[in-house]
Amino acid sequence: MRRGPICLITAALLVAGGIRAQSQNEASAVTADPAAVAANLQLALQQLPEGTGKQLTALACTRCHNLNGLPAYKGYWSREQWLTMVEAMVKHGAELNAAQKQLVTDYLNSSYGRSSDH
Ligand code: HEC
Repeated sequence: MRRGPICLITAALLVAGGIRAQSQNEASAVTADPAAVAANLQLALQQLPEGTGKQLTALACTRCHNLNGLPAYKGYWSREQWLTMVEAMVKHGAELNAAQKQLVTDYLNSSYGRSSDH
């Protein structure tokens, strides 16, 4: 059995319970249903492009919502803008230390950043 992710999901529920979505798009469809959280993680692991930081991004970023909206950002944001977004998610409650924020930002920037288009 995969105990690790389940523990993480349980912890996430405590956080996710207090969060309200402000937008109706899929990326911010906040969920507190454990089955949905597990499905979000599974989907992210299947759909996110390969690269350093993928696993961490999938784990840290699917606790409150799925990542189906991410491709819509592809090519638009600079690394600085990705970092700003990651920091906003940390303020919401995403659990990333300083080094992990950089890793996730690098992953998002190289997978969905301006230079990922070509
Ligand atoms: C603790 C809950 C939580 C976690 C964990 C979380 N988010 Fe969010 N996310 C939200 C909420 C709440 C919103 C909607 C409000 C907003 O856009 O700030 C949101 C919105 C978004 C949006 C849509 C933003 C927009 O302006 O349309 C994206 C993209 C996103 N999150 C990506 C991420 C990424 C990448 C991570 C991992 C670093 C992450 N989220 C982790 C709570 C979370």
